[in-house]
This record gives sequence, structure tokens and C-alpha cells, in this order.
Amino acid sequence: MKTRNIIRTMVAACMTATIIGCSEGNTDLQYNSLIDDPQKEEPSDPSGPDEPQGPSNYDELYRPQIHYTPAKNWINDPNGLVFLDGTYHMFYQYNPEGNGWGNMSWGHATSTDLIHWEEQPVALTRDALGAVFSGSCVIDKNNTAGFGANAMVALYTSAGETGDVAGKQQQSVAYSTDGGKTFTRYANNPVIANNDDNLRDPKVFWHEATSKWVMVLAKGWARGCEFYTSADLKNWEHASTFVYDFPNRPGFQWECPDLLQMGDKWVLLLSVNPQGPLVGSGMMYFVGQFDGTTFTPDALDYPLWLDYGMDNYAGVTWSNTGNRKLMIGWMNNWSYSGDVPCSPWRSAMTLPRELQLVNINGKPVLTQTVVKEIEDIAGEWQPAGPGLDVKDAYQLRLTISLDKRSVVTLSNAAGEQFSFEISATERALIAHRTAASGKTAFNGTFSIPSMRAPLFTEDNKVTLDVFVDQSSVEIFTDDGTLSMTNLVFPSAIYNHLDIDGADSDASVRPLKRIWK
Ligand code: FRU
Repeated sequence: MKTRNIIRTMVAACMTATIIGCSEGNTDLQYNSLIDDPQKEEPSDPSGPDEPQGPSNYDELYRPQIHYTPAKNWINDPNGLVFLDGTYHMFYQYNPEGNGWGNMSWGHATSTDLIHWEEQPVALTRDALGAVFSGSCVIDKNNTAGFGANAMVALYTSAGETGDVAGKQQQSVAYSTDGGKTFTRYANNPVIANNDDNLRDPKVFWHEATSKWVMVLAKGWARGCEFYTSADLKNWEHASTFVYDFPNRPGFQWECPDLLQMGDKWVLLLSVNPQGPLVGSGMMYFVGQFDGTTFTPDALDYPLWLDYGMDNYAGVTWSNTGNRKLMIGWMNNWSYSGDVPCSPWRSAMTLPRELQLVNINGKPVLTQTVVKEIEDIAGEWQPAGPGLDVKDAYQLRLTISLDKRSVVTLSNAAGEQFSFEISATERALIAHRTAASGKTAFNGTFSIPSMRAPLFTEDNKVTLDVFVDQSSVEIFTDDGTLSMTNLVFPSAIYNHLDIDGADSDASVRPLKRIWK
């Protein structure tokens, strides 16, 4: 299948570019460990077998207990995140026919609290214009499009596969007047025609000051964003182009943009692949101004990374949630996503996070905290360790002095372990997903050592919130000024905690399984 071949090539090129990019004298703290990485292997092929997978009771080995996964089959990017009448809708890239990438469609899940999700029937599948790639949904309160007041309007990329449209990424519209249950395609698609495969992932929002819809699109390998405006969601006018040159990163692509107004600033979120903070996929952001047509970044030291782990990609925010900026990401990485040992599903979403823009030492920092709705599944706090009485998932809260180096190790009875270090001298969080963390041999890029992230704390101590599920560890420090999201595949959840080094305080609380 053509599109799949394009992506295959993309992934192979990604790895080559990652390695080239990193050996060209990039001095970033985050890149150092890759330069020493002995394991430069072929990237994974995310296209898997297309056999239909069986049903699930959500308790297979590695099955996330507090993160969204479909019962079966492959998912990647969250799409069309929108809140309507008390329900959070989450559409996502989905393969209805297997647990490898392919047959891209929009799967669908709904929730009233962002934590418990109910899988719904597939919302959109391919048509004559191609497969259904990533995009967004808006609620058209004033019926600007003429589909009906409060219609849920989806804007997505039609990724052409065969015939006249092969290789073309064009933008299309579909709408739902029954709260996201069924969608009708707009008769005059595509609404933005295009001839190449470097224009995708439309994120649309209403720009109050100019009374217009704004669409931001990513330019893929052409690296950058295109902005369009519209009065009716159907007729789009090109408004501006945003490009930012990263001389040390010649071979990566931009995907899945989002533009958010946060106080008197605008934040442009982007996913980049390869050449995230360490290897493969990662998310960065720009802070600046947007006047309804043009984004102008403030002069800051870019890239600013959103997450310093390996597994937070394609994150975008919910539409129609007022000033609450709620984001969820795909908890995986194109470097090895096709090989992660999960069946009958493959891939999970991150925990949903609330974003805030804060000022630290005169510089803007985008913070992420797990949404407060997590309280719905949280038990009582208890002093923690070394043995942890935990089952489905849990949250640790650690306060560690920065007087000297500390090492925190999570482990299980099989001796599998994931550890992270607080470096007092570097004021950094350094995490080690080594071959000892559990199953890692499925792909050589999975157990590369040492992810590092700068600590933003101004105190002589750091507070960490660590969310541990069956196959992930998400670390947040000091009110979300740093986040580090990683997959791990231990044969049983880590249930032992050791903290060596400086004075520390540790508590734990259980998080209950979200599945019925
Ligand atoms: C990002 C991405 C998007 C594209 C989708 C295809 O992970 O490559 O740019 O729309 O995945 O599944």
C-alpha cells in the first residue's frame, strides 16, 4: 500500500537523520547520551500484520490500567479532541484491521472525566481522497458552516493512496449533528487542495479578535507551519507561513501543530520526528504572539522541549474547554512503536494533562500537571517504601534534597528495574531505561541510556510526582515544570522503591483501574 510505504521510508530516513544530526557537534545536554549510543539499529517498521485481533478484558500483560488503550488494534495520534455537552471526545489514528500502522481511520472514545473512557464505533474511514490522517474538531456554535448550530466539525488530512490523489495530503471536512456518533463528509472536499505529502494535521480554532477560524498545518519534511483563515470552515485563505531554522537538525519533520492562547502569550506546540529530545519522536514549543494571521516567536533559546522522555508525541489540546488547556499525547515513539510488545492492542495515550505557562527566572515555561480528575481513582496517601502495596497503578510523591546526588530505583521481584537520578551538581533529572527495565530487546533504540532534563526548582529540594502503570512511568517535577514520559515493559508492575543519597520523603497512593 502506497501510504504505508511512504511512512516506512519516512521512519527509515528518520533514524538516519537522528544519528547524523546528533554527530554533527550538537552540544545540547539532552543529546550527549545518543552520541555514545552503541546501539544504532534499524528503526522499527510500524506496519504490522493486519490480522483482526480478538476481544479483550483489559488485563493482559503490559495492559495499561489507567491510560487509554483501544480493546484491540493499533493507535497513534490523538485527533479531534473536543468537549461537548459534558462529554470529552477523543478521536485518534486507528487501524481497524490490525495492531500495526495502516488503514488509517479515526477511532473514537468518550469520557465525562478524562480518566474513564468508553470506546465507540470507528468515526471516519478512508474515502476516494485517501486515508484519514490527523486533524481536529470544533463546535460551530454560530453555524458559520451551515451544517447546523453546534455541529461538531472535523477537519482532517486526506492522505491520498492511489490514482490521481496518490501522495497528496489535502485537507477535508466532515461534520456530525448527533454529538459525534455519525459523521457526514462535506460534498466539496478537499477544502484545501495540495499536491505533495508535506501538509497535514489541521488544528482549527476560533480567533475571537478577528472573528475568524484559524487553521494551522504542519509542513512535514518541509519543516514549518502554514496558517489559513476562514469565515465558514469550508473556504480557506492562506494567511502566513512560519518556519524556524534549526541548523543542527537538518533532517526532521514537523507534525501535529497546536496554537494556544495562554494569558497575553501564544504557544505553538509541535511534534518533531526524528530528533526529539533524545531519539526519534518528541514535542517542542514556541512562545510568542499571534495576530490572527501571523505567529511571531519571542527570542528564546529554541527548541524548548515539552517532555524529556521518549514517549510523548503528537500531543494536542481539547477544543471548547474555555481557559482550561487540556492535552493528551500518544505514549510512544516512531523509532520503535511498531515493535512494542503489546497485543491485541498497540499503543496507549499519556495521562491527560493541564497546561500552564509560567515564568521562571524571567523565561516562559510550559508546565504540565495530570488533570485534577485523577482524584476520582486515587486512594489515600501512605508513607512509601521499600515495599509498595500496589496493584493496578500508583502515584509516588517524593521530596528529595539537592544536598547531594540521589538515585531512585523502582523494581519488582523479578529484579527488573527503572531508576532515575537527581544530580545536585547538574541540577538535572537523569533517567535510565536500561535493558534491565523489563522487556527491551524488541528494538535496539528502546533501551538507550540516560535521558536528562534540567530541573527548574529554585529551592534546595525537588518534588517529584511519579505515575506508574503496568507499562509506563510518567515523572513530573515541581508543579509540572518538567515532565518525562517513558514506556517500560516489566513482567510485573514495579512494587519496590529505593532512594539512595540525600534526605528524602516518600508517599504513595493507589490509582484504581479505569476499566469496568
Ligand atoms: C504523526 C503522524 C501525522 C499523521 C499521522 C498518520 O504521528 O505522522 O503527521 O497525520 O501520524 O498516522
